[in-house]
Amino acid sequence: MDSLTSESISEPKTIFLKNYSVPEYLVDTVILDFDLTETKTTVRSELKIRKNPASESNSSNLELNGQNLKLIAITLEAINEPSSLVKTLTESDYLLENESLVISDVPEFFILIITTEINPKENLALEGLYLSSNMFCTQCEAQGFRRISYFPDRPDVMALFTVTIHADKQHYPILLSNGNKTDSGDEGKNRHWVTWQDPFPKPCYLFALVAGNLYCQQDVFTTASGQNVDLYLYVEHENKHKCEHALMCLKQSMTWDEETFGREYDLNNFMIVAVNDFNMGAMENKGLNIFNSSCVLASPETSTDADYYRIQGIIGHEYFHNWSGNRVTCRDWFQLSLKEGFTVFRDQQFSSDMNSAAVQRIDDVNILRNAQFSQDAGPMAHPVRPQEYIEISNFYTVTVYNKGAEVVRMIHTLLGNKGFRKGSDSYFKRHDGQAVTVEDFVNAMESENNIDLSQFMNWYHQAGTPKIEFSESYDAQAKRYTLTLKQFCAATPGQETKKDFHIPIRVGLLNSNGETLSLDLSGEDSCSGEQECVLELKQNEQRFTFDNISEKPVLSLLRGFSAPVKITTQRPRSEMAFLFANDPDDFNRWNAGQELALDIILSLIKEHQAGHDLKLDKEYVNAFRKTLNNSSLDNALKSQALGLPSESYIADQCHIADTDAIHDVRIFIRQQLAKNLEADLLTLYNSFTISGDYQFNAKDMGQRSIRNTCLSYLMELDNADYHKICVEQFKNSNNMTDVIAALSLLVNHDNEYRENCLASFYEQWQHDALVIDKWFAIQATSRLPATLERVKSLMNHSAFTIKNPNKVRALIGRFCLGNIAQFHNSDGSGYQFLAEQVLSLDKLNPQIAARLIQGFSQWRNYNDNRQQMMKQNLDKIISEDGLSKDVYEIVSKTLA
Ligand code: PHE
Ligand code: ZN
Repeated sequence: MDSLTSESISEPKTIFLKNYSVPEYLVDTVILDFDLTETKTTVRSELKIRKNPASESNSSNLELNGQNLKLIAITLEAINEPSSLVKTLTESDYLLENESLVISDVPEFFILIITTEINPKENLALEGLYLSSNMFCTQCEAQGFRRISYFPDRPDVMALFTVTIHADKQHYPILLSNGNKTDSGDEGKNRHWVTWQDPFPKPCYLFALVAGNLYCQQDVFTTASGQNVDLYLYVEHENKHKCEHALMCLKQSMTWDEETFGREYDLNNFMIVAVNDFNMGAMENKGLNIFNSSCVLASPETSTDADYYRIQGIIGHEYFHNWSGNRVTCRDWFQLSLKEGFTVFRDQQFSSDMNSAAVQRIDDVNILRNAQFSQDAGPMAHPVRPQEYIEISNFYTVTVYNKGAEVVRMIHTLLGNKGFRKGSDSYFKRHDGQAVTVEDFVNAMESENNIDLSQFMNWYHQAGTPKIEFSESYDAQAKRYTLTLKQFCAATPGQETKKDFHIPIRVGLLNSNGETLSLDLSGEDSCSGEQECVLELKQNEQRFTFDNISEKPVLSLLRGFSAPVKITTQRPRSEMAFLFANDPDDFNRWNAGQELALDIILSLIKEHQAGHDLKLDKEYVNAFRKTLNNSSLDNALKSQALGLPSESYIADQCHIADTDAIHDVRIFIRQQLAKNLEADLLTLYNSFTISGDYQFNAKDMGQRSIRNTCLSYLMELDNADYHKICVEQFKNSNNMTDVIAALSLLVNHDNEYRENCLASFYEQWQHDALVIDKWFAIQATSRLPATLERVKSLMNHSAFTIKNPNKVRALIGRFCLGNIAQFHNSDGSGYQFLAEQVLSLDKLNPQIAARLIQGFSQWRNYNDNRQQMMKQNLDKIISEDGLSKDVYEIVSKTLA
């Protein structure tokens, strides 16, 4: 009793990268047998185990992980020993603790058979084996397999899996696991069984099982070498009309990975299952991907362009993991970015090739700027390869994923496309079938290219976003332009001082007509006669000299966002406006517009705080008008160019984030633009009416996007005509993109349209959970002051359940993380709401609870009043008994 209490109160323990050691025992084969029932599933696991020859430990104790398991029986049979008896183990042969099972005195080679019982129905954490809408499914990454059976649950233990599933025939006609189906049969009492065998050794985090009554949409893909692969998409019967897009994207992904990375698929079948209750987007289990239904199901009437686009990226992402993650996996969870950063880079390149490269790049950079930069500047800042964690689930972050992808992208920039491909070929060849580290990846890249990436490794070791300052000088006589770059990185938790980064900075120079100058970079042969150069900033301060420059040039810096850094040197507005109009680099042209807008916003915030009347810069209105009416500009890009920086990005740029002022100023600017450009906006809105069926293609998406951007500005005006247009669009569109665009504008205005449209939308879509998530989300992000009250009452709506992560994200998540102004209401109501939700969710699903705490992560960037209230709520959470490791880690680090 005493020891139990002290264990549950003691602080959760920290795991360190520096303490890694190889596994003491290896598992060669795993034979699993599942007898499935909803509340009591029996799992029999037969493991063939041997001492790891690479281990230096001379202990003969075998340590297995296990969590929430009921141990029924263990037997052990030594192999190769004279008297290889099967021995049933008793309590004196092992030590059973809360999260482990240690079996003492095991031989060098043996077979261990462990029987356990689990309760899938009670599993609301959605890790391990659980029930979701009448189907069984699993989630084992990162450490979910230990909730299924006792096992060395670490990615460097790789085994061959054979899995037999027994279940009720009527309720669970479909029984799936990894690899190939090898046998099946009936066993009476209305039950049947199926056996699956995976020919590839894999870590247990890639294990998957699904059982349900599912519709299956089939397709085939022929690989470059002529192998036929059967493709299966399993969904609930009511979703059979939502399969087409995902299957198309899957075939696109398979072709793309062959053409771009030389990677072919390696099994005869590839299965995807859609489940309604899932903590993340999707999971790359070998041959059996499991997807959050929101990331795979699509139809024009129910899904937006953004949904179609995201699905394409995620289908690609999970498919690409088959090589970057499965064939070559991670040695330990500190190496998470080895598979995630690389795979995000791969899915970004895929989306970029399938759609518009510039739009994709802008989206990627927006994620970094809106979420990663603030993580890097806050209390949870960690390197792309963290050095410690309490709960690994907390490290599936924008830093590991998206900054990790930027780090891989920088390697790509430094090596060029060909060099990068040689490096990745070598990586896959050297390490196929292995569990490896970030160093192995970088070494493979180095080995095929004449480059030293040792300083570059700092991107993996050091947290924080580097800041770059620049200064320029032009010598007209010598026709010489000199650019001086300086880098600086602020301290982050646990890292007081930083070493210099190796930063690729892509630059171009323009003349006063906006024409590109050809570059002659002294001391650097690789860049003469080019239109742009990649400068390698490695020192704290470095000077780059360009010759034969006949007039003072305008610098286009960090093209394509060639490194995840912040440029801190202020430029005159005239220069930003010039680049906004003229930079031939699409990304930089957009970026110049964003910088210009940000500069204006920040100065208007000061005016607003001083109680002055606000006036919008005429030059900015003109630049905006030019962009709006530029008929040669791609619509999707134009729409991006007309968007203002987000409230959260603006908040990050402020010393003290005054969310009310940010919100007011942003709306003021939007209103001014709408007033000044009303006729142009309306003309542009009317010039695109897309007739015919919905299509997911760049042209139509671009038209929908620019149209809805125009409508959103017009809706800033106090003019009933636009409300009517908006209602018309809401009622008459044949696609969810236009419907939701209209509805999300209508919900900002307290008039009869709002409630009518919300009610008719619900009426029409109440049977479709994914559409109802949108209905929750747009109400949670409304500008109206009573939004929190609305959110609270929607939590009592029959369509809401706190057990479903998509619902939590749509309603609670969108309010706390996506409605900045109202969440930070100075009365503290938003903070109190968040703390209450975190505490009640933590008892059900700790991963989802922990993610919500992000709402408090920047608490030190607010005024005293808000700081105090946020801190009080954090204190309240941390003082609660029985917190999960997940929530404990985030809250304690946020407070530290
Ligand atoms: N590995 C998954 C991906 O990135 C994400 C994931 C992690 C899903 C943990 C579930 C649990 O594709
Ligand atoms: Zn991934």
